[in-house]
Amino acid sequence: MRTAFRGSLFHCVADPGEQDRDDAIVYFDDGVLVVEDGLVAGLGTADEIMGSLSGDTRVEDFSGKLIVPGFIDCHVHYPQLDVIGSFGEELLDWLHRYAFPCEMRFADAAYAREVAGLFVDELLKNGTTTALVFGTVHAHSADAVFEAAAAKDMRLIAGKVLMDSNCPEALRDSAATGYEHSRQLIERWHGKGRLGYAITPRFALTSSEAQLEAAGRLAAEYPDVWVHTHLAENHDEVEQISRMFPWSSSYLDVYDRFGLVRERSVFAHCLHLEDEECRLMAGSGAAAAHCPTSNMYLGSGLFDLRRLREARIRVGLGTDVGGGTSLSLLKTMREAYKVMHLQRQPLPPGRALYLATLGAAEALYLDDRIGNFDVGKEADFIVLDPRGTSISAHRTAHTSSLGELLFALIVLGDDRNIAATYLQGVRA
Ligand code: GUN
Ligand code: FE
Repeated sequence: MRTAFRGSLFHCVADPGEQDRDDAIVYFDDGVLVVEDGLVAGLGTADEIMGSLSGDTRVEDFSGKLIVPGFIDCHVHYPQLDVIGSFGEELLDWLHRYAFPCEMRFADAAYAREVAGLFVDELLKNGTTTALVFGTVHAHSADAVFEAAAAKDMRLIAGKVLMDSNCPEALRDSAATGYEHSRQLIERWHGKGRLGYAITPRFALTSSEAQLEAAGRLAAEYPDVWVHTHLAENHDEVEQISRMFPWSSSYLDVYDRFGLVRERSVFAHCLHLEDEECRLMAGSGAAAAHCPTSNMYLGSGLFDLRRLREARIRVGLGTDVGGGTSLSLLKTMREAYKVMHLQRQPLPPGRALYLATLGAAEALYLDDRIGNFDVGKEADFIVLDPRGTSISAHRTAHTSSLGELLFALIVLGDDRNIAATYLQGVRA
């Protein structure tokens, strides 16, 4: 089964940096992406490729539109779709007032399945083809989102939350049950099709040392699963961590002490890090998920992309719904642009797309499978339509370069500009 997709083609082959270096970006104004058995079989200009296609190759024509790799969301809570846009709190009050009450509803497995189905549909509508996802403390919350992703053969990593302290009784597991339920979920889902498991302690404030120790044991027993948690999001949080773990030299040291800082560890936020923590992240191969809509919405702070990249830390974008305000990575990119602008750091469009595609794939250690159009990678891609809305149509009629077009789409775009989402070459 061979299909050729014709349109403008864009992907990153490296981090374009603060100046959108040309050698990190590949662009064909009139290009063709060839897909065979769900994998990228080739790409190039239409002039090079069209004449060489065998007669049985199906051609899908997206002329006037832009074909780019599917977006990758490095941090999102599917149960919190229920509380996006809840007014007026910073992190710790927001958790108690909005997040925890909504997560209690997921004690009902049927409700979890309903929200998981909506969540996966919305990801695909927004052009997100891979995500790293928090469930709730309930093991069936992870089953629900894995089932929803499996039904689409979508690449998705998720985990049940580990949480045994500083939270409502109804949302507590224990060191022992958290370990055992996570282990069963790993056995059931990790490596099944395109699914992966993430050991998911909510954050160090809601886990006892016994639970963090159990999470670390699990991480040692399953070295190729992910670890997914929060780090240094909010000043009050950081201060409470130092009181709760007086022996620690930093917030990240708490996770490190229990063996949770390694390759495939993804830490959401990373706003208030000491230099020691940056060195530990870089040296261990851990990654940061930058969640700009959440950081501004909860008044948490500004992510210093330049500092983390200069420290050689892997960084991908996350939406962090429901602290974040949208599942759209286009919207997330434009908020990242504003966050960097406030700090006098340029975030040009190629680099913004890198953070939502190849950079995110590197953060998740999936860049051998997804993130760009290298031959052999899974053909997860989206078709961006500059004319998806009347305003974007009007604005992009006046763009004269690729950078200008991409940037206008980042600033104006939403799910109406995602004309189609493809998973392994098949329209989702
Ligand atoms: N830190 C611990 N839990 C959460 C959560 O649900 N959302 C965000 N944004 N931060 C957290
Ligand atoms: Fe979060």
